[in-house]
Amino acid sequence: MEERLMMMHRDVPLLLITWLTILSIASCQSVCPVRCLCYLNQMPSTIECSRQGLQTFPENISDAVEHLDLSSNLLAKITDEINRLTELEYLNLAKNQLTSLPNNLKELKKLRRLDLSDNIIANTADIASINQLPSLMVLYISKNQLLDLKGLTSEVLQAVDAGHCLIKALGNTSLNGLPALTSLNLAGNPLKIIETPVSRTLRWLDMSDCVLNYLYPDTLSRLPELEELRLVNNPTLVYSTRYSTLQHPKLKRLDVSRCNLDRPGLHGFPSLMHAYLSRNTIRILPDRIFAKNKELTHLYLSANNLERLNASTFDGLMKLQALDLSANNLENVHAMAFQENIDLRLLNLSYNSLHRFPDLLSLVTSLDLSFNLISRFNANSLENMPRIRSLSLRNNQLQLLPRGLKSKTLKVLDVQRNRLVELHNDSFAELPSLQKIDLSGNRLTEAMDPDIFQKNRDLTVIRLGDNPWRCDCTQLYVIYEYLTVPVDKTVPSSLICQNPANVSGYSWETACFDAWNTDLYYNKDRTWGMVMVSLLILLVLCGSVVSIKHTMRIKRRVMEQRRQLDLTEERERLRLLHARRNQRLEEEVEGLENSAEPRINPLELIGPPTYEEAVQMPRLVHSMDALNEISIENDFLRPMSSVDNLRTKKRRTRRTKTSRKRTQSEDDLLRREERRQERIRRERNNSSGNICETVDQSQNSNPRNSRISTTRRSRRHSVVDESLESNNSKDKSRPQTPNTRKKKRRQVFQDEHVTDDEASDVQIMDRSFVIREFQREPRSGYRDSFVERES
Ligand SMILES: *[C@@H]1O[C@H](CO)[C@@H](O)[C@H](O)[C@H]1NC(C)=O
Ligand SMILES: *[C@@H]1O[C@H](CO)[C@@H](O)[C@H](O)[C@H]1NC(C)=O
Ligand SMILES: *[C@@H]1O[C@H](CO)[C@@H](O)[C@H](O)[C@H]1NC(C)=O
Ligand SMILES: *[C@@H]1O[C@H](CO)[C@@H](O)[C@H](O)[C@H]1NC(C)=O
Ligand SMILES: *[C@@H]1O[C@H](CO)[C@@H](O)[C@H](O)[C@H]1NC(C)=O
Ligand SMILES: *[C@@H]1O[C@H](CO)[C@@H](O)[C@H](O)[C@H]1NC(C)=O
Repeated sequence: MEERLMMMHRDVPLLLITWLTILSIASCQSVCPVRCLCYLNQMPSTIECSRQGLQTFPENISDAVEHLDLSSNLLAKITDEINRLTELEYLNLAKNQLTSLPNNLKELKKLRRLDLSDNIIANTADIASINQLPSLMVLYISKNQLLDLKGLTSEVLQAVDAGHCLIKALGNTSLNGLPALTSLNLAGNPLKIIETPVSRTLRWLDMSDCVLNYLYPDTLSRLPELEELRLVNNPTLVYSTRYSTLQHPKLKRLDVSRCNLDRPGLHGFPSLMHAYLSRNTIRILPDRIFAKNKELTHLYLSANNLERLNASTFDGLMKLQALDLSANNLENVHAMAFQENIDLRLLNLSYNSLHRFPDLLSLVTSLDLSFNLISRFNANSLENMPRIRSLSLRNNQLQLLPRGLKSKTLKVLDVQRNRLVELHNDSFAELPSLQKIDLSGNRLTEAMDPDIFQKNRDLTVIRLGDNPWRCDCTQLYVIYEYLTVPVDKTVPSSLICQNPANVSGYSWETACFDAWNTDLYYNKDRTWGMVMVSLLILLVLCGSVVSIKHTMRIKRRVMEQRRQLDLTEERERLRLLHARRNQRLEEEVEGLENSAEPRINPLELIGPPTYEEAVQMPRLVHSMDALNEISIENDFLRPMSSVDNLRTKKRRTRRTKTSRKRTQSEDDLLRREERRQERIRRERNNSSGNICETVDQSQNSNPRNSRISTTRRSRRHSVVDESLESNNSKDKSRPQTPNTRKKKRRQVFQDEHVTDDEASDVQIMDRSFVIREFQREPRSGYRDSFVERES
């Protein structure tokens, strides 16, 4: 608890401070003057009261203000109250009616910039109080009625803009009160006379738009730090004569454009780097005239009257980077004129009267030859410019580009607005670095083959606008695609057709929309459609083939199953038949003591014998009625009563009837009886192992022959069987109930499903399986009987 209280106590001063700050901010905001905008929370805190027609300095201005703008009002007087604004850094009083500043400005200790321009201050004495501003760096007093800078004093002032005043002279002592001055603008003054002004610090002096006349060679001698002198538009200026010239050892920039100079006169400025001599009347550049300006990097001589450049005109300008000779009357440029200017990058020869391409020897990188009268140049013209990257030939009179113009470095070629009628297929073949080409504004009519740009791998911009294209849509398509795919290399809407008349004025796109979209695009679509349709047809065909195959297989399997079922049934019947026959034979052989008993258990018979079986059957001793009875009983035992079965039953009964009707000859019967008896005798002597062997054999034998082999086997061993079965015929020949048969069939089905292989395999498997199934019972029966007999 105590701790918490302590904490609270500690927090109290903090709270108080925050409250106070909030209150102070609120109070500040409350004192924003009428018709002013206050941004006191921003950095710097600002109050703007410009263009409000204020006639007096507004009351209650927050003393936190840093930037105060009172420009474009009607203020005639500033009171001492301004000293309250101690935080002021920038005070703008431009465009008012001020004639003076208050005598006391002592409290504006932070004021750095003071704008008094466009007032009616007539005398520097009226603003003498600026010398009380310890931080003042920049003073604007342009557009006032000052006659002199004398009397303006400040120990710290660095920049004075006194342009467009009424200053007529800059005397020896004019700058004495400004010992820190570095920049002085006197442009637009009626300045005529410059004595020898003194300033140890002045670096930048502008006396443009004055009426300077003659400058003595030592005029700048007391301005040792001067770097830039601007004397633009002093129409009567003379600073260099045959006998003397203005001098300054440190001057770096001199702008004497528009001064009617008839010679450059730069030899008094050994440090000069930038010389602006444009728009003068220089006609002749004597050989080696710039030889003393070894530091010169930029020389502007445009818009003079130069007619000729000799080989050594620019000798000695080893550092020259940009040379502007545009807008002169040059008809010839000596090929060697720029050979010494090894740093030259930009050479501007535009707006001259060159008729021939100047085959210069130069290391120039950008050559501007626009607006000349050049009608010819040849493939080797750029050969001696090993660094050329940009060449402008716009607005010349070229009718053809040279075949195989050679340059390994050229990236930009501008031949806009010439008279090109066609392009050679190898015009650009030797320009491997080409990135941009401007062919607009020529007289090209025929679509060019995109192959002409084959060698220009880096080409990304091709301007072709403003040509009178003849729109043959099939021809245009190829070049159009080259120009727009993958990205636009040109502005498609700038490609306008002139011919044929019906598409004149339309863009390529519009004129050829139908042609391109029906012929070319449609063809594409159609081929795609064809491909799709054929694919579909193929798919459908494949599907139907597969399904047909599948149904065929299923059908085959079903048929096979049915056949197998028939086979089993037949076998069963055959077996029973054999058993019955053997039994009968045994009875006959071993005597007829038991003849009173029924020879065959009627349950053993399942179905009537087939035709084949019926033929091989022994003649019945008993009446046909007895057989009838058996067959009827068998019919009752039939498990299936399907229509199919009924039909087969009918067939079978019919067959038995015919077999019954048939009577075998007595001889036949007798012969057979004899053979059988002999066989019985022979086989009784044999061992019982043979039987097993034969059974195994039949199991392994070819399933297709299984039926035949089983019948054979059964026939061969029938006597043995008889003898064996006779003892326990009841045990062995267990009557087959419908249920057991069903079970068997079910097993067959299941096995088939498990081995769902090819149809043929299934067939084999099923058959052997069925045979096995069929044989299992008899075998066990044999074994049983064996065991019983042996025991
Ligand atoms: C300036 O503030 C004073 C009180 O601080 C007030 O009386 C006066 O009306 C205010 N003036 C203006 C012009 O708001
Ligand atoms: C200005 O100074 C130069 C020498 O620096 C002198 O020759 C000249 O007479 C002076 N001009 C005036 C008006 O004093
Ligand atoms: C240029 O050179 C030719 C001869 O080579 C000479 O006659 C002419 O005066 C030279 N022109 C200039 C301006 O030096
Ligand atoms: C060459 O000079 C002309 C006219 O003075 C100007 O329009 C053009 O931009 C200059 N060319 C270059 C490359 O600076
Ligand atoms: C240019 O066309 C001419 C025929 O006009 C042909 O002989 C030449 O092989 C072509 N050159 C190229 C680079 O395609
Ligand atoms: C212009 O006329 C030509 C035949 O002279 C024709 O093939 C073409 O389709 C027409 N173009 C348009 C846009 O009507």
